[in-house]
Amino acid sequence: MDIRTIGVVGAGQMGNGIAHVMAQAGFDVLLNDINQDALARAVATIDKNMERQVTRGKTSPEDKAAAMARIRTTQAIADVGQTDLIIESATEREEIKNKIFESLTPHLAPHTILTSNTSSISITRLASRTDRPERFMGFHFMNPVPVMQLVELIRGIATDQPTYDACHAVVDRLGKTAASAEDYPAFIVNRILIPMINEAVYALYEGVGNVRSIDQAMKLGANHPMGPLELADFIGLDTCLAIMHVLHEGLADTKYRPCPLLTKYVEAGWLGRKTKRGFYDYRGEEPVPTR
Ligand code: CAA
Repeated sequence: MDIRTIGVVGAGQMGNGIAHVMAQAGFDVLLNDINQDALARAVATIDKNMERQVTRGKTSPEDKAAAMARIRTTQAIADVGQTDLIIESATEREEIKNKIFESLTPHLAPHTILTSNTSSISITRLASRTDRPERFMGFHFMNPVPVMQLVELIRGIATDQPTYDACHAVVDRLGKTAASAEDYPAFIVNRILIPMINEAVYALYEGVGNVRSIDQAMKLGANHPMGPLELADFIGLDTCLAIMHVLHEGLADTKYRPCPLLTKYVEAGWLGRKTKRGFYDYRGEEPVPTR
């Protein structure tokens, strides 16, 4: 199947990155959000990130202008239904994703492939709420989308081979690499990464180290580009906690219990970089550890 147009539902951190790389790969992108300010912010972020790529010689000003011109925005979810491939990238909450798929379903073209950028929720369960479980799958990007090489492709129990092949071809066209994961809680990357972050929060909670020593230990001792607490702030502490809940409930194993300190930060609204406070305080010139 020839995919030319991409609908992206949700213009947050992941949605704007997905629109960015799709437009650069030559797809026409329709970016949807219920909030007009979120759409305006997303376009401004894409413009800034592409400009950074121009400055670093990764793209030309002409290619940037052409990519920006391929991105259109809409507040009407019905418009998105006519695109060839839809990537839902809303908040990591199952009831929100279900609502989106329910409101999209009556407007879908017969050939449209539906996908979710969920980082942990069952693809089979999400697919079951739509009219096309065989044309539904997980299409999971890593953050920051323009930089990270991997896309996880997750088949639900009903996903058919042409749908998988079409999504794989899109990943190839992006110049990224696909890894296939089975549909179990949090798939591959987050099954391993988020419990590591949760363990780092336990180390902080139990006083094994402070924010700086834990991050430094993993950066210099394990060659990670970011320490686990810095990475948690980057991903969003609400997302990290939501994924731990999915693992804990979905696998029913106490080894996945979320650290109470992670829960406390989320309850405080300290969600990391996006709210300017998490394990670090980002309100000044330099990030300052909060513990
Ligand atoms: N858009 C475009 N380019 C970007 C960018 C963005 N949003 N953010 C960074 N870049 C580019 C920079 O322009 C730079 O390009 P060059 O190499 O050409 O100079 C390059 O990325 C490196 O950026 P910086 O020099 O500014 O910063 P850095 O060297 O500290 O790297 C980083 C930043 C790439 C984010 C690095 O710290 C890193 O790899 N961190 C770990 C990221 C990670 O683990 N992501 C996965 C999170 S898990 C996930 O996403 C799954 C989930 O479901 C939760």
